[in-house]
Amino acid sequence: MNHTLEQFASQCHDFLKNSPGPAGRQKVAEALEDVLVDQDFIAKHLPPTTGEREIIYQDPELGFCILVHHYLGQKSSDPHDHAHSWAIYGQVHGRTEMRDYQKIEEASADKPGKVKEIRTYALTPGIAHLYNEGDLHAPERKDSTSLIRIEGTDMSKVKRLKYEVV
Ligand SMILES: [Fe+2]
Repeated sequence: MNHTLEQFASQCHDFLKNSPGPAGRQKVAEALEDVLVDQDFIAKHLPPTTGEREIIYQDPELGFCILVHHYLGQKSSDPHDHAHSWAIYGQVHGRTEMRDYQKIEEASADKPGKVKEIRTYALTPGIAHLYNEGDLHAPERKDSTSLIRIEGTDMSKVKRLKYEVV
């Protein structure tokens, strides 16, 4: 316990630098699970005033971001991937129903792709889940939630394609 943001960011940096690709990210997800239940860290970095998307750290060398999210009430997203990048979802408070999808038809800039649901599962406090490049998923949150997420790059700057469920 007693993680600091600086120590955690430095740990993520080392995992991702030493093991580029899914193996390093999985180590980051495991380390994040310890942070998700560190009440001092949560009190400091996820206060009730946290907005829907705040970057609390961006790595100057590798570009990955540590983000905090507080969704007040219901909040869901359509099926998506993270383009050429990846993301780790870590649940702090509340419950996310996650759905994974298989791609049936490619998406293009002017036409949504088609996806089929393959599984559904719950992300509950203390659980972190990695989504690699092309992993299609959709979170559904029926009540207020808080998360810590890690993105391979700042996804707010990346254009993403749309998918519809068949
Ligand atoms: Fe996502």
